[in-house]
Amino acid sequence: MDPNQEKKPHALFIPAPAQGHLNPMLKLAKILHSKGFLITFVNTEFTHRRLLKSQGAAALNTFSTFRFEAIPDGLPPPENTEVTQNVYDICRSTQENCLQPFKTLIGKLSECFAPVTCIVSDLLMGFTLDAAKEVGIPEFIFSTGGAGALVCSEQFPLLLEKGLMPLKDPGDVVNGYLDKTVDSIPCMKGIPLKYIPPFIRYINPGDEFMVEFTNAQIIKAKTASGIIFNTFDDLEHDVLNSLGSVFPPCYAIGPLHLLEANIADKSLASIGSNLWKEEPECIKWLDTKPTSSVVYVNFGSITVMTPQQILEFGWGLANSKHPFLWIMRAGLVSGESDVLPPEFYEETRGRGMVAGWSPQEQVMSHPSIGGFLTHCGWNSTVESISNGVPMICWPFFSDQFPNCWLSCTKWGVAVEIDGGVKRDEIARLVIELMAGEKGKVMRKNVVNWKNKANIASSLPHGSSVIDLEKLIDQLKAL
Ligand code: UDX
Repeated sequence: MDPNQEKKPHALFIPAPAQGHLNPMLKLAKILHSKGFLITFVNTEFTHRRLLKSQGAAALNTFSTFRFEAIPDGLPPPENTEVTQNVYDICRSTQENCLQPFKTLIGKLSECFAPVTCIVSDLLMGFTLDAAKEVGIPEFIFSTGGAGALVCSEQFPLLLEKGLMPLKDPGDVVNGYLDKTVDSIPCMKGIPLKYIPPFIRYINPGDEFMVEFTNAQIIKAKTASGIIFNTFDDLEHDVLNSLGSVFPPCYAIGPLHLLEANIADKSLASIGSNLWKEEPECIKWLDTKPTSSVVYVNFGSITVMTPQQILEFGWGLANSKHPFLWIMRAGLVSGESDVLPPEFYEETRGRGMVAGWSPQEQVMSHPSIGGFLTHCGWNSTVESISNGVPMICWPFFSDQFPNCWLSCTKWGVAVEIDGGVKRDEIARLVIELMAGEKGKVMRKNVVNWKNKANIASSLPHGSSVIDLEKLIDQLKAL
């Protein structure tokens, strides 16, 4: 082993195997590398294979001090690498199967590379805390959702105890019961039940498991050395403070794409995290469009929609008459994938572009983008807010519901598609967002948040920069 290397702190990163988890954790890993850490970034074998395919082996193997490793997730290999793994299966399987390979890897790294001095693990990979305790290495948990979402999940046991959840009758989804508000969730006073991560309704197969799994991860996270968020203090100040009383120290170090741009060594830019192949033509197409004229439509990496929903979104966008860039990743539609008819493409020729995967950070900062139709994944929400882009929300899963509520009611930067997906409603909301009075107000609010995000991430005194420095001190000291 290189003696200089031996003196460096060595951080072991392990994200949950999903795009929205990989992205922010890789950014933090790059920042720490630029601050003198050796990095080992651990993916599941399936994710690692996907990354090799989308990024190329050369991009992942450029640095001897920033290495990738893989452990098995315990699931049979999916039939193709484009498949989005089922979240329930992956949570269950990593919990049951990954501890031993993870411990073996820590031992191997100590022998062949450098002893691991700290672990940065995903909230959903709580088994790593068992390994960390056993071998005496400090561990920090990265919660890839926002602080507001975590505080809601932390209250699952109380909501169950009070009998507010689960739903007594599946009909409660539509009969107004979910509009009932709760005041007991710290700093989320008045949140309607429908915006609590919906596993707690116990409607879908796997919901009960997900609640138990989430509770177990949160109990474990409370024993970690710290919790890391891709958020910034101004945006979630009160919630972050309230979490401080039940969790270990919290570090708000977002928006991470801004910190990465301000701090990380530029040579690391070659290490990408997209699991799908980006289509750079999107940017060329945006270059041809006027300022703030385009609606960007993207539902992230997990959402699955019915062909009918795609049709309604499609005709809603077409009927709005505004230009749009719509990302339809492989696997977005259940069943048949080619559901948009030729008339849709004829109607929107020159005005609409449909692509398979975009370089989203570049898209969001492109001057032609005027609005974002989103599923409210936390990364997308932060990317939208920090680029001053107002949103139309269609939450689909988990933390996307509290993210939607916060965006619409607390931050004033979004409107929600209420009820089912109907083309007239989509068209109405797109027109309102892009050209209406409400759109103007949201745009003003979001530009305000954009400025705050920039201040939080600027050197040397931005709140996120200060939290990052504190985190680095702790990672080195413990
Ligand atoms: C999920 C959850 O939805 C999210 O709330 C959670 O906190 C993390 O895991 P996902 O549904 O994929 O993530 O959405 P999101 O959080 O928005 O993450 C997607 C990421 O992929 C974003 O960073 C986005 O920039 C990137 N992306 C997405 C692209 O680069 N190109 C695309 O075409 C689509």
